[in-house]
Amino acid sequence: MKKLVVIAHPHMDESNVHRAWKEELLKLNAQDITVHDIYEAYPDGKIDVASEQRLVEAHDCIIFQFPVYWYSSPALLKQWEDDVLAQGWAYPGKYALEGKSITCAVSAAGSAEDYSKHGKAGHTIEEVLLPYRLTASFIHANYLPSFAWYNAEGISPEHLKASLPAYISFIKKLV
Ligand SMILES: Cc1cc2nc3c(=O)[nH]c(=O)nc-3n(C[C@H](O)[C@H](O)[C@H](O)COP(=O)(O)O)c2cc1C
Repeated sequence: MKKLVVIAHPHMDESNVHRAWKEELLKLNAQDITVHDIYEAYPDGKIDVASEQRLVEAHDCIIFQFPVYWYSSPALLKQWEDDVLAQGWAYPGKYALEGKSITCAVSAAGSAEDYSKHGKAGHTIEEVLLPYRLTASFIHANYLPSFAWYNAEGISPEHLKASLPAYISFIKKLV
């Protein structure tokens, strides 16, 4: 199972969570995990669609790793979806991601309680991530349960440290 982690964080130099998650993934130096930071790859925002499509084709599972921004993703990930999941490649007819898996690994300022039916957000993180599930379904991919780390803004060193084995275990268990 080859896994492609597509990381989207517009200010990686100011990040606590995603910088640490990225470094932890790179430290694994795993043959079956490709770490792909799209803001680093495309500082001008111009995505090389053919190159991204080749990357996706070479993997079985795509993990979108990002901080929740306005109950969605940072902008370049949306651009990535709009550009890379092109008609004629991702759908219809060809369905390049058919049988592949898709999931998300996100961090959020809100607490787990906030992201519940009766919490401040009034919706779970899986509900917030519904566009990814629906997109996966549309392009005939399988959507797997996501990974979420809450209370991630101004995160304490202890809480950040605890996120690392939890995140790596999530990535390793994806099948
Ligand atoms: C523009 C922006 C929008 C944000 N929107 C949300 C949001 O809708 N829900 C939420 O829980 N956190 C939100 N946050 C908080 C980020 O998710 C949080 O700071 C991030 O997950 C921490 O990860 P990092 O240390 O890698 O930056 C937002 C932060 C920014 C900068």
